[in-house]
Amino acid sequence: MAKRIDVSGLTAYYGSHKAIEDISMTVEPRSVTAFIGPSGCGKSTFLRTLNRMHEVTPGGRVEGKVLLDDEDLYGAGIDPVSVRREVGMVFQRPNPFPTMSIFDNVAAGLRLNGKYKKSELNDIVEKSLKGANLWNEVKDRLNKPGSGLSGGQQQRLCIARAIAVEPDVLLMDEPCSALDPISTLAIEDLIGELKERFTIVIVTHNMQQAARVSDRTAFFNLAAVGQPGRLIEIDDTERIFSNPSVQATEDYISGRFG
Ligand SMILES: Nc1ncnc2c1ncn2[C@@H]1O[C@H](COP(=O)(O)OP(=O)(O)OP(=O)(O)O)[C@@H](O)[C@H]1O
Ligand SMILES: [Mg+2]
Repeated sequence: MAKRIDVSGLTAYYGSHKAIEDISMTVEPRSVTAFIGPSGCGKSTFLRTLNRMHEVTPGGRVEGKVLLDDEDLYGAGIDPVSVRREVGMVFQRPNPFPTMSIFDNVAAGLRLNGKYKKSELNDIVEKSLKGANLWNEVKDRLNKPGSGLSGGQQQRLCIARAIAVEPDVLLMDEPCSALDPISTLAIEDLIGELKERFTIVIVTHNMQQAARVSDRTAFFNLAAVGQPGRLIEIDDTERIFSNPSVQATEDYISGRFG
């Protein structure tokens, strides 16, 4: 649980378009790392290379290495499906399976991964919903459709679904951008709790959010439109927001940016 990520020389393409170039970084276990940077600089692309989702896009391919506790996720014989179990993902728009009940939404990944007794499933679903701070709100309506929840509840349902399979890493791509401020704070509090158990990487356009939730912040940027995105710097969040090493980072976080 909660493994270290070590990326070296990662470049990702969509067909002939090089979206990100030569990215290297490490992410320590039980920490929160925020990815920030202007639209189109490749934050989502890079995030998706960390659980081999990038290659699901037609033309999507990568060069370079991603190690999860020394295991090369792109190594020969590695099953991308098992990678996605170890490295879970939460998306920008809450995407519960609409026709499934709340219970089945959380149990979905478990059912794919193996056989569980009903009592085991009950326990894991309860634990996951508690872990996602949703249990009290849904315990009396577990058999109702997940799509009947509010946006913030749906996003916590998706987090419950992601943590039910006990991944090592949780990737979150702008998980709060479709949520109201109260639900956003609920998710931010939750991230603070989840980092005790998981290694978390979150993409956000909200500078305050990056400052509030993350231990480390990575700033990505493009040299020019059409150029691949690059990692400009990664450092302790406090330092990135008080005294970054690179002028472009300073310009971006202070809003002096195109
Ligand atoms: N499915 C795709 N097919 C082709 N090119 C893509 C695809 N998805 C993204 N790209 C390109 O890759 C580059 C990086 O996009 P990406 O979505 O990773 O940026 P981002 O930093 O997440 O942006 P945003 O902040 O707007 O979400 C962009 O040039 C984008 O047009
Ligand atoms: Mg994105």
